[in-house]
Amino acid sequence: MDEIELAKQTEICKNCKNIVIGKGNERAQILFVGEAPGRNEDEQGIPFVGAAGKNLDTLLAEVGLSLHDIYITNILKCRPPENRGPTPAEIKAHTPWLKKQIREMKPKVVCSLGNYATKFFLAGGNVDSMDDQQGITQVHGKVRVIDFEGLKIKLIPLFHPAAIIYNRSIIPVWEKDMEIVKHEISQKTLF
Ligand code: URA
Repeated sequence: MDEIELAKQTEICKNCKNIVIGKGNERAQILFVGEAPGRNEDEQGIPFVGAAGKNLDTLLAEVGLSLHDIYITNILKCRPPENRGPTPAEIKAHTPWLKKQIREMKPKVVCSLGNYATKFFLAGGNVDSMDDQQGITQVHGKVRVIDFEGLKIKLIPLFHPAAIIYNRSIIPVWEKDMEIVKHEISQKTLF
């Protein structure tokens, strides 16, 4: 079974309206990875089009990035019911698809949005060791170079744009982290 079929076998994929693959430029050097589609994304089949997406649009505009410069996808390609968090089994079934996207795109920079995406990359894509990784509160804004399945990637963990909706005190932290993103991507050659 290939990576896409594996994800499609999960209950969330059988029950969703649309599979949400990604948006932006697949040839870009910068990849943003969120958690999973929400209700609006499920309706439209496009990631980050709801309230969290509006925050992400602001974030991108602040650092002068457009969808021409980046690609955006999620850990899960289908919406979990009631917007619950992804289960380890779902992450295991869906991330081979994400890894395939990464193999094809070969991004130089990955901005992981929130805990799930950040722990996935810190664990080098090994779902079983995600629980051993530090959370987003500890690692946001801290740039590190990771080896991801043989690819050298600059990882920039960021708070999830949805977190700002519930916790406005994150805004200044977020803006500071954006300065770091801006600095990193303004390097003439990313490596
Ligand atoms: N939150 C995510 O993590 N991804 C989306 O696509 C929308 C909301």
